[in-house]
Amino acid sequence: MMYPLFLSLHSITRWAVIVFGVLVIAQAVLGMSSRRDWRTLDQRGVDGLFWSVNIQIVLGLILYVFLSPIIQDALSDFRGAMRDSRVRFWLIEHMTMMIIALGLVHIGAARVRRAADAVAKHRAALIFFGIALLLILISIPWPGTGADPRPLYRLPW
Ligand code: HEM
Repeated sequence: MMYPLFLSLHSITRWAVIVFGVLVIAQAVLGMSSRRDWRTLDQRGVDGLFWSVNIQIVLGLILYVFLSPIIQDALSDFRGAMRDSRVRFWLIEHMTMMIIALGLVHIGAARVRRAADAVAKHRAALIFFGIALLLILISIPWPGTGADPRPLYRLPW
């Protein structure tokens, strides 16, 4: 079954996004306060965040367009779906917030690349990736919260 496979990949890749996000922000804060160079490790962190978010969005889109029974049911009764906070979360809120975060990660990566000096790179990383990570963290269906809580990780079997 493709649905459990992609759902668990999407569940687990979230941790790569969070680990790279926290790493990048911590490095940006340290880099700004000590006014240090932009190092290879800083760039590796940005690349890791960029790719993990892109992969996560592709997995999410595959779930959304092809696999999720929640979305398929919602589209057959759109008005009813919009009245159900659990369905609306998946149909609109989760997807929209994560795509805004994707935009911030793309703009942030470009700003970091183009910034004139190391301090400006650290600052761009902190602002853009900081806001992106915040949006991601509040749009994840954490256990015990929101309209449709989900586990911290999921295995496909
Ligand atoms: C950084 C971006 C994203 C993160 C961190 C993220 C995280 C998650 C998590 C943790 C789940 C719960 C998985 C589970 O039930 O175990 C989930 C489910 C889901 N996500 Fe995302 N997601 C992201 C982006 C997206 C995007 C862009 C879309 C749509 C275009 C999307 C569509 C979905 C769908 C359809 C589900 C499953 C609904 C169902 O249970 O059928 N996600 N996401």
